[in-house]
Amino acid sequence: MVRFEENYSLKAHNTFNIEGKTRYYFELTEMEDLPSFFADFQDWQSMPLLVLGGGSNLLLIDDFDGLVIHPNIPGIGQVDEDRNHIYLEVGAGVEWDDVVAFAVEHDLAGIENLSLIPGNAGAAAVQNIGAYGVEICDVIETVRGFDLQTFEACELNAEQCNYAYRDSIFKKELKNRFIVTSVVLRLDKFPEFKVGYGSLKDEIAKIGELNLENIREAVIKVRKSKLPDHKVIGNAGSFFMNPIVDEAKANELLTKYPDMPKYPSGEGKTKLAAGWLIDQCGWKGYRKGDAGVHADQALVLVNYGNATGKDIAQLSKEVKQSVLDKFGVEIHPEVNFIPKT
Ligand code: EPU
Repeated sequence: MVRFEENYSLKAHNTFNIEGKTRYYFELTEMEDLPSFFADFQDWQSMPLLVLGGGSNLLLIDDFDGLVIHPNIPGIGQVDEDRNHIYLEVGAGVEWDDVVAFAVEHDLAGIENLSLIPGNAGAAAVQNIGAYGVEICDVIETVRGFDLQTFEACELNAEQCNYAYRDSIFKKELKNRFIVTSVVLRLDKFPEFKVGYGSLKDEIAKIGELNLENIREAVIKVRKSKLPDHKVIGNAGSFFMNPIVDEAKANELLTKYPDMPKYPSGEGKTKLAAGWLIDQCGWKGYRKGDAGVHADQALVLVNYGNATGKDIAQLSKEVKQSVLDKFGVEIHPEVNFIPKT
């Protein structure tokens, strides 16, 4: 199935629930729909492109004078097996949490910690989603897609994807060139549970038997207790990435703030908790009009109803500046601003 629209509202396609139109919208359910569409619609070469998944990581600042492509490709199926693993191919349009539910139901381990993350599987692989000590890149075997430069289907293995914290080749060199159509995940038949992460550890201690269903349930409970449901209050999860600073900078801050959360992040580097930094600046629960900072997790900016993208962007600017002023640390949005500012 394909769908092509002009002047199409994206309100139902972004978890901030913000109004904004795109000039053109193309939705497809099969990879084969891509080459014929691009061959017929030559105008695409002269306008900005946006590949849209579940819209859980974007902020619409204004109307988008370009082409939105929504690869709504369904399907979860086993494509391979070896002694320790089952390989599942998942369509880019499948809701990520349905993938986790499927894996847990079939006793396949590796992504249970990534329960309840909003968004679609294709975008999850672009964004390298992560939570509670696990990142999707830990289980990615290959990412399949369509290359707009060569006009061919191709696939990249995990190494070629250049995965890093909330980063991949699809956000850099292959941005707007490679349309992810499916992802092959390598899941474990014999699980090694990862339950050491702070807030998850406490919830795990309460659940009794350690198994995939119970871990999924604990993760869901922890997320629900901290993160707002975008169907009730518009938001895009963590608005900012956790900043990675030099160890020297982290040590300097630690002398002043000994309780500051920190995580080792490669040689000479330390990851700080943006939520903690923002919280320390007094933003938690702040509200101006319908734009606000969530009361339980300062890393999440929210739309209480009628905030515009500009309202949220303005608030994010103020938050960013205050963290810079107080700590000398620059934080960067994880959310994509559309159109790019
Ligand atoms: N903290 C505060 N105040 C706050 C928020 C956090 O003091 O308002 C402190 C916490 O007490 C904790 C530390 O900051 O000591 C880290 O907080 P948390 O464990 O909640 O995780 P996070 O670093 O804020 C990251 C991810 C989340 C993911 C959690 C759990 C990023 C940008 N965010 O948040 O991902 O769920 O870890 O693994 O890396 C998302 O990307 O949308 C997302 C929700």
